[in-house]
Amino acid sequence: HLTKTSPTSSIPEPHVVIFPLPIQGPVNCMLKLADLILSLSNSAVSVTFVVTDFIHRRLIHHSTTAARLGKNFRFETVPDGLGDGGDDDENPRGLYQLADMTNTLQGQAQAEGSRLRAVLAYGAAEPGLKKAVTCIIADGFYGCMVDVAKELGVPLVYFETISPCGLWTYLCVPNMLRTRDLPFQGENDLDAAITSVPGMEAYLRRRDLPSFCRAYDPKNPIIQLVLNQVKNFPKAQGHILNTFDELEGDYFHNLRALCPNLYNIGPLHLNLKCRLKQKSTKSISNTLWQEDRQCLEWLDAQPRKSVLFVSIGSLASMTKDQLMEIWYGLLNSKTRFLWVRRPGSIIDDEGGKEAAVPIEVVEGTKERGCVVSWAPQEEVLGHEAIGGFLTHCGWNSTLESIVGGVPMICWPFFVDQQVNSRVVTEVWKIGLDMNKDECDRVVVEEMIKELMGTTRREEFLARAGVMAKLAAQAVDVGGSSYNSLNRLIDDIVYMRF
Ligand code: UDX
Repeated sequence: HLTKTSPTSSIPEPHVVIFPLPIQGPVNCMLKLADLILSLSNSAVSVTFVVTDFIHRRLIHHSTTAARLGKNFRFETVPDGLGDGGDDDENPRGLYQLADMTNTLQGQAQAEGSRLRAVLAYGAAEPGLKKAVTCIIADGFYGCMVDVAKELGVPLVYFETISPCGLWTYLCVPNMLRTRDLPFQGENDLDAAITSVPGMEAYLRRRDLPSFCRAYDPKNPIIQLVLNQVKNFPKAQGHILNTFDELEGDYFHNLRALCPNLYNIGPLHLNLKCRLKQKSTKSISNTLWQEDRQCLEWLDAQPRKSVLFVSIGSLASMTKDQLMEIWYGLLNSKTRFLWVRRPGSIIDDEGGKEAAVPIEVVEGTKERGCVVSWAPQEEVLGHEAIGGFLTHCGWNSTLESIVGGVPMICWPFFVDQQVNSRVVTEVWKIGLDMNKDECDRVVVEEMIKELMGTTRREEFLARAGVMAKLAAQAVDVGGSSYNSLNRLIDDIVYMRF
């Protein structure tokens, strides 16, 4: 879209360092952002993408984007502190390692003389590769980056990779502590209303707050990271949000008041697909696992809107008990299903080691279902055979479902997922909220029948269709996310931060 001339040689060339959290969701959408910056700036910008060694190894094996990005793109790698052989190499690091990895990486970013510090300042540690950095785009969870960027004299834009509604509840934690909504007082009534999250009073209950609010403990490392994020939020030069204006509700003007320079550029995967004029997302996959593309052939053979897609994302795990409840719920509902069982996502009931899937489930699947260890999810949710999504409500999954016009059954696990599930069901009304705190085969069966059966199916599909249309308009020429993305690229190219 750039019509103006490139920056003259008297000013440094634009060079962005992108620094995601080392987990699938953030890596995926920040690589998509890198893709957009490179293609829309006509190579006027170079991008250095900082990942951990572990993520890098997985991306070069499985991502189709990385090979396509050209000479203005470079990976830089840093250690995540967990060692090379300590974890099962088949599984990327999970939620329980997130706080440790974030603290390790923040420590490196703050340490004078560290490799990461040099990469943030110059895009590289090796003298021959160094080039002044004109903007850092870091995940909003790295609260320390405000000080690091200030010390390095580089503007900082945060990419908030969680949902804006989840982010807003994070930002309200100090207010909730002041009003004693937190820690929960008296009886542990999870249905009690939360009144100190402005704009969400009408529907937010204790059970809808991010998981770390339950048994609130200021010493919990995730809470400490969140509080640091909250403190530093208003100090960045801008914030990128993976959302579109038309999706956001009453609370959003409060968020904007804290940081007026917001770039709502989502749904990012749709924005990228439109800008690259791609019909399929096959060539823009940033996956950390090997995708099983055969499930698309299986879907081709199923009737329209007949299949429930089941996936709990890249970090969550279910116990064997929960697996059996989901399984019998699915079986008794008599619905066709496509189920992702990621390596490591089924654990024993004590919550520890990976558990084997019982033979009755393996055998029983063959009749009406298809099971894969990792799916090309964006394509699956865009397939016409998919009629519903039983999801953990991770923010990327939620957006991908909205884009596909697919109604959801929400079974949230942690962080922003609890808030997302409430907004999906109570505000957008494009799904059903499974009782968040127990997984019961009767509930699963009833919800599937309600979502996919004849009585309410058309109602859900119609509403989901409207949302999908709004998303498509937002990224189309002149739409809200289209314009926001142009503004972001211009601000990067002309170094306006
Ligand atoms: C976590 C949090 O739970 C989420 O709420 C937060 O916003 C980011 O970090 P995660 O479990 O990774 O997310 O879920 P989600 O945000 O939905 O991202 C999962 C990604 O993996 C999606 O982009 C999805 O398309 C992809 N995926 C998942 C696949 O490509 N194939 C699969 O089989 C399953």
